[in-house]
Amino acid sequence: MTSDDIDVTVARVMQQQARVANSHEFINGAVDDVTLAESLYSSLRDASIAERDGIVVGHLRGVILSSEVYGRSAWMNPEGLSYDDVETLEALYVHQAQRWIADGARRHYVWVPTDTASIAPWLDLGFSYMHQRGVRQLEGVSTPEWPIGYSLRRGTIADLETAIALDDHLHEYQEQGPSFSLDLPKGDQREDWTETLEDPTVHHYIVDFDGQPVAQCATFPLPDRVGSFDGTLHLSAVTVREDHRSRGVGRAMVISALLDGRNDGFHFIETNWRITNRSAATYWQNFGFVPTYLRLHRAIGAG
Ligand SMILES: CC(C)(COP(=O)(O)OP(=O)(O)OC[C@H]1O[C@@H](n2cnc3c(N)ncnc32)[C@H](O)[C@@H]1OP(=O)(O)O)[C@@H](O)C(=O)NCCC(=O)NCCS
Repeated sequence: MTSDDIDVTVARVMQQQARVANSHEFINGAVDDVTLAESLYSSLRDASIAERDGIVVGHLRGVILSSEVYGRSAWMNPEGLSYDDVETLEALYVHQAQRWIADGARRHYVWVPTDTASIAPWLDLGFSYMHQRGVRQLEGVSTPEWPIGYSLRRGTIADLETAIALDDHLHEYQEQGPSFSLDLPKGDQREDWTETLEDPTVHHYIVDFDGQPVAQCATFPLPDRVGSFDGTLHLSAVTVREDHRSRGVGRAMVISALLDGRNDGFHFIETNWRITNRSAATYWQNFGFVPTYLRLHRAIGAG
């Protein structure tokens, strides 16, 4: 991609996003053209353009990132991708992936809208389901009914050890099947939770029972992102200790967070779950979270 391709690419992404939003209630069709143009300009070497007869028919941008969790890997976001037909997508992917592999990035991730037409071409390229984002409105939430003996409070930095211990329960749960999320690095866990608990934009909630903390979750404002609406809260780290599950504790805790979010002027809330966390997938959809974007992944190697 060169700077000459930016205007046409921005126009393509804007049209595509408007089209996607038509069939997804919780996907925002608006795209800030200036921000997108700046972001493409700053990563021209990460993007390729496909042309047919001198007309642009697609683009693909993948940024290589190195992280402790995912290793050296290439990431594609919804605005990093447009194609007029599946053959164009395949050609773009092959072209880009060759460069990523040569650069040591053998794990490839892409976020796509959750519908068959958006997902299928990637499955044909050997990608598979990984992570699901879901969004719901904050309207229509009424005061939760708490099971007897449980009480909710806001966490502070004084709750650091509690937050880490409850986070360990979440990790242990995800290590079991069918998620089998093994080897999740915990090196930064203390640092991350310290930052979270000290961040004034984060709401951290703890549920106590008999003087013992048994559940937690956290919310924070979602940064601006293509596909998300302004005024969206992010919900994460939702955990209920195993011996307190299926009593309505999770529901009451999350509803309390939703009510706070609404009172603070937010309109939507987003959470995400591993596709393989089958009970969470059911739980969040029963809770009214509607799938928006899906993360697919491919690990290049033998096979
Ligand atoms: C997912 C999780 C947070 C839910 O918390 P929870 O306190 O068990 O949830 P609730 O009790 O509110 O609801 C669980 C189920 O019990 C049912 N339930 C609620 N109150 C109940 C009661 N009094 N008696 C029997 N069942 C009840 C709910 O209807 C719900 O069923 P559903 O999943 O079909 O909607 C909890 O199971 C957990 O910590 N799981 C492991 C970690 C995890 O996966 N976290 C989410 C990561 S994305």
